[in-house]
Amino acid sequence: MIDIRRLAFIGGGNMAAALIGGLIRQGLPSGRIVVADSSAEQLERLVRTYRVLRAADNASAAAGAEAVILAVKPQQMRPVCLALKPRVEEAKPLVISVAAGIPHAALARWFGPHIPIVRTMPNRPALNGFGATGLYAPPGVGAAGRALAESIMAAVSATVWVEHESQMDTVTAVSGSGPAYFFLFMEALEAAAHERGLPREVAHRLTLETAFGAAQMARQSADSLATLREQVTSKGGTTAAALEVLNGAGLRAIVAHAVAAADRRSAELAAEFGGP
Ligand SMILES: NC(=O)c1ccc[n+]([C@@H]2O[C@H](COP(=O)([O-])OP(=O)(O)OC[C@H]3O[C@@H](n4cnc5c(N)ncnc54)[C@H](OP(=O)(O)O)[C@@H]3O)[C@@H](O)[C@H]2O)c1
Repeated sequence: MIDIRRLAFIGGGNMAAALIGGLIRQGLPSGRIVVADSSAEQLERLVRTYRVLRAADNASAAAGAEAVILAVKPQQMRPVCLALKPRVEEAKPLVISVAAGIPHAALARWFGPHIPIVRTMPNRPALNGFGATGLYAPPGVGAAGRALAESIMAAVSATVWVEHESQMDTVTAVSGSGPAYFFLFMEALEAAAHERGLPREVAHRLTLETAFGAAQMARQSADSLATLREQVTSKGGTTAAALEVLNGAGLRAIVAHAVAAADRRSAELAAEFGGP
């Protein structure tokens, strides 16, 4: 169970709601969570659903908080952080950013160098409780701060730490953008099944259950993905015939190129968002 007296959310949108729901399910009392959001309607919805505390504004949410989660859109991060700076300097909470593409250096510039800041990169499935989150913190953030950030993100996702911040671009390219790659592959599989005569709903169901089943098999097994693939591929069989086509078309190289393109784009966007 997460042990924190007061956890503040700045921004109470989709990601904040997912985290709040996950934390409460894990036993964090809702009265220890305080939320500020510029949309009164959004805030009302959160208070009604989760019985969290309502803050009049961002600064009062952060007052006395042990940790502050920044959950506004990336474009809003700079003004929000600069306005919060005096309160954060006073209370020195652990600051956790979930904003895509905002570099740690930008956050440190906005809050000052002595504030412990953890940058995280969750993904869209986190909203359904099945996310994957990359976390980065510089050496100055102690073990307790790291553990707290990790346990908060773990309420809705698997968590992995990266050692170098540049690796967050790769995290973005893999787990951030990754759901779309799998959707594309599933779309193609579903379309192929339909073209070969299966009704659309049947094609859809088979595709979804197969993707889910394969992911579950891989999650539950200690074997590598290559071993699992070999285990389900008999020599001269149907799977082998299909894999020969996929390999022959250069699927691995295509995926490597695609991930490299997303990685590059993530670095470009970080440079754009993280300006002074
Ligand atoms: N959703 C995802 O799948 C996902 C995945 C990875 C990372 N993230 C990151 O999570 C962060 C939040 O995303 P989201 O999807 O939760 O966005 P969202 O639903 O738009 O939530 C942001 C909330 O912040 C409010 N807000 C705007 N300006 C504010 C201010 N100055 N002070 C306080 N609150 C303010 C917004 O109100 P208004 O609507 O009135 O503007 C909105 O309710 C983003 O930085 C994003 O990069 C999201």
